[in-house]
Amino acid sequence: EKGGHEYFMLKEIDEQPEALANTLRGHFEAGRIILDEQRISDQDLRDVDKVFVVACGSAYHSGLVAKYAIEHWTRLPVEVELASEFRYRDPVLDRDTLVVAVSQSGETADTLEAVRHAREQKARVLAVCNTNGAQIPRESDAVLYTHAGPEIGVASTKAFLAQIAANYLVGLALAQARGTKYPDEVAREFAELEAMPAAVQKVLSTVDQVRDLGRRIADSKAVLFLGRHVGFPVALEGALKLKELAYMHAEGFAAGELKHGPIALVEEGLPIVVVMPSPKGRAVLHSKLVSNISEIQARGARTIVIAEEGDEAVRPFADELIEIPAVPTLLQPLVSTVPLQVLAAEIARTRGYDVDKPRNLAKSVTVE
Ligand code: M6R
Repeated sequence: EKGGHEYFMLKEIDEQPEALANTLRGHFEAGRIILDEQRISDQDLRDVDKVFVVACGSAYHSGLVAKYAIEHWTRLPVEVELASEFRYRDPVLDRDTLVVAVSQSGETADTLEAVRHAREQKARVLAVCNTNGAQIPRESDAVLYTHAGPEIGVASTKAFLAQIAANYLVGLALAQARGTKYPDEVAREFAELEAMPAAVQKVLSTVDQVRDLGRRIADSKAVLFLGRHVGFPVALEGALKLKELAYMHAEGFAAGELKHGPIALVEEGLPIVVVMPSPKGRAVLHSKLVSNISEIQARGARTIVIAEEGDEAVRPFADELIEIPAVPTLLQPLVSTVPLQVLAAEIARTRGYDVDKPRNLAKSVTVE
């Protein structure tokens, strides 16, 4: 049932192109983004003037990624908040607030309570969920299912990629409702998403290289992850994967913060994973990150660089270079996350840990 894989997680990493295709399928018909369930009117969607994404763990990271796209496409302010914090701070909610609750299981207690709080305050709730008929979608005003298939590994992989794609569909649905994007622009964005399963398939060809790297750094004390723009939440997700699977100290940082503290952590031999923006798509950020890498390398860090194919400028500073295909900037997390999943799984495996069932963790967290 693991399809020849040693762990469910590796099988689920491999299934990501198919999972993504399934998330997109059926959500764009006759030139329009469509949700699976909608119990509010189109006018209600048009009236939305503020978006909150609430979620936990990896689902929260999917929201952080989506903020960049949703704000860009809809011109609506988007806040992304941990579900466990959201309702305890009296957030400003009303009928025109859309709360997007992202949950693979649809049963996460913190997220469910955040949904209930939002609805008591008259906000509209849209669930992004991987489990048909789960409690969170049942209590929501609209639902978009990710259709990634059941995820057995405790560490989220294919559900995470599917959540990013689904959150993007929510952004496009809002842009379509508000008219901030013309129908042909929505169609173009959707077509770019449809090209992503093939791009993810391509990045899977780096699996052997990344596993080899994982074995070589498995006895490190800690690993840091750096990124900027959409690469920042990818860095957070890479660090979470490593913490939960390999029980290692791992932290993700916004690369721009390095000089504001984290650079003090850099010491000889410390592996630092850097998620590079595209040299063409984000030239300014790219050059800032190249200088960050040269700084940490000069202080002895072992630089592991995830970069777009053909990124020659970063090559001299990369002790290890993992290449990902060139894709539109907002979609890069769908490819750059994959090597980080493989890296965490292989480090855990090398250290002798159960990749599918990390200690102390449950797949679905049904108590607050
Ligand atoms: O089922 P949910 O998406 O609501 O779960 C949220 C988190 O518990 C989950 O993403 C968790 O962080 C994973 N173990 C991460 O790999």
